[in-house]
Amino acid sequence: MPFLKISRTIVIDYKIGHYVKVMMDDVFGIGNFRNDITRVKCNPKNFDRIGYGNIKDLILFYTKTPNPIWNEPREKYNENDLIKLFPKIDKQGRRYTTVPIHAPGETENGKSNQPFKGILPPKGRHWRVDVETLIQWDKEGLIEWSSTGNPRKIIYADEREGKRVQDIWEFKDPQYPSYPTEKNSDLLDLIVKTSSNENSIVLDCFCGSGTTLKSAQTNNRKWIGIDQSDHAIKATKEKIESIKGNLFIAKPDYEFIQLTDKIENLKHSLNAINQ
Ligand SMILES: C[S@@+](CC[C@H](N)C(=O)[O-])C[C@H]1O[C@@H](n2cnc3c(N)ncnc32)[C@H](O)[C@@H]1O
Repeated sequence: MPFLKISRTIVIDYKIGHYVKVMMDDVFGIGNFRNDITRVKCNPKNFDRIGYGNIKDLILFYTKTPNPIWNEPREKYNENDLIKLFPKIDKQGRRYTTVPIHAPGETENGKSNQPFKGILPPKGRHWRVDVETLIQWDKEGLIEWSSTGNPRKIIYADEREGKRVQDIWEFKDPQYPSYPTEKNSDLLDLIVKTSSNENSIVLDCFCGSGTTLKSAQTNNRKWIGIDQSDHAIKATKEKIESIKGNLFIAKPDYEFIQLTDKIENLKHSLNAINQ
């Protein structure tokens, strides 16, 4: 269950996820709920039991404020996307599509309502940009004119950063995990990079084998990890120390603190108070 400083993300299985959602709404406020992401976690299973095979879990994403850290992630286009979204190919072999240069809404005297090469925007619409920009685009060969004289803006596939990441993710967990519930490291990389900046503090208070912490370390974030299991702390140490080419290994900038004794003392004190 990785938690980030400004955003909170929780990975939970389908049996309990909906109850946790209700609790999280209560704690963080339903207005701070952003996504429930379906995460495909393994290959299809063919167990003989009543019910459909379960290959997903649930990622609940909340933010603390209306304007949290959000580094928009982009997913590379695959071959099918390229063919579908950029169906045209120019003389240089570059894939592209075209979009209208006008948008809904009329402006009375604005720069986006002037004639462009003798053409006015269609009724009820205005140019998306001012006419000087349209002229500049045309000079640069970024306007395609149809046979009927209709201008459209050219958008090249190789100039786009990729497509928006949607709310169904496929990140299968390791087949031979170093820890029983070890998560996919690319999954945590995506979450950490999207919802924190360099030097942000990433907190994972159920850190298991430290997948979130490794992602924070390799992406130059500060981190705090907590787990009640010795096995988890051992796995975390091994994972952090396995990061190659990192100067901090020679001079560690982290510390592992055993809190068990303090927690036991606290429990005794509380018991004493309650008696
Ligand atoms: C799902 S695992 C985390 C797996 C981790 N993301 C990884 O990739 O290895 C949840 C962890 O929470 C720890 N845990 C459960 N209850 C806890 C508690 N009350 N305090 C601290 N850790 C706890 C468990 O020991 C377990 O390691």
